[in-house]
Amino acid sequence: MKVSIIGGGGLVGSCAASSLQYGRIVREIALVDVNQELAEGQQLDLLHGASLISDQKITFGGTEHVKDSDVICITAGLRRKPDESRLDLINRNVALFRGILADVKKHGYKKDAIVFVVSNPVDVLTYLAIKELGLPPSQVIGLGTVLDTTRLRSMLAQRLDVPPTQVQVTIFGEHGDSMVPIWSNAQIAGLPLEKFPTVTSQLIAEVEKKTRGSGAEVIKKKGGAGFAVGASIADVIHSIALNQQRILPVSSLQNGLYGLKDVAISVPTVMGRQGVLGCIEIDLWPKEKMALQNSGKVLRETIDKVLSTK
Ligand code: 2OP
Repeated sequence: MKVSIIGGGGLVGSCAASSLQYGRIVREIALVDVNQELAEGQQLDLLHGASLISDQKITFGGTEHVKDSDVICITAGLRRKPDESRLDLINRNVALFRGILADVKKHGYKKDAIVFVVSNPVDVLTYLAIKELGLPPSQVIGLGTVLDTTRLRSMLAQRLDVPPTQVQVTIFGEHGDSMVPIWSNAQIAGLPLEKFPTVTSQLIAEVEKKTRGSGAEVIKKKGGAGFAVGASIADVIHSIALNQQRILPVSSLQNGLYGLKDVAISVPTVMGRQGVLGCIEIDLWPKEKMALQNSGKVLRETIDKVLSTK
């Protein structure tokens, strides 16, 4: 499988490429960037370690790489400032993103290609890609709350001193301020979270607050997320490459689930080689369902604003 990473010269794109390299599953990684010098530098840096890691083709170049790519991952975009919400970023990123979509369309893409949006605000830009690329909606997804979910799992594990891989809790909704942690189904090693030793409502609230602020915290301390977002991107791409049909909280077009209509947002989504194979409406606490619907409303309002400024 060939993966092109648009914005591959940047922090997010290059960390995604490194995670794909260590994942050893995809066959070719193409770093696509307007800054060719930077893309070549990232490619060289990845290539130099290849003999210790994996036998993959690692290339760099322009958008011409997308035409034979199986997955087109779009990470390019301006990063938000620490005190800026992802939705505030919209005005600066929509024009840039529309230019990328036009470039992808100009070069063409495989009819079974999967377009995977990471640029922020990811849910709104995913919706734009669905509407403007002309691929079936099931073949256009966004990273959504996959990153938020791994942050929550990992920080809850650190707080409780348990293995992160044994913490099962997920986040639905917007990858942003209205995200919805789903505590109703949280477990540790198959045991209900609320019955786990030392777990209190205050501890849960503290971990949730830290998760919500993680993006801004990482931007403030190191300029932006890299390792965790790269690992999240690779996890989704591997589910596609291996047709694993795992249930992931990626952002995809919803038309009815949980009452969410005509909006790209994160819900339990079965991901395979063809893209979105289906979404699952699991039972939620009433307050979770309401929060999810509010998240959909927030995103719909922003989409309407963006579409009105076409
Ligand atoms: C984050 O939360 C980049 O939006 C991403 O760090």
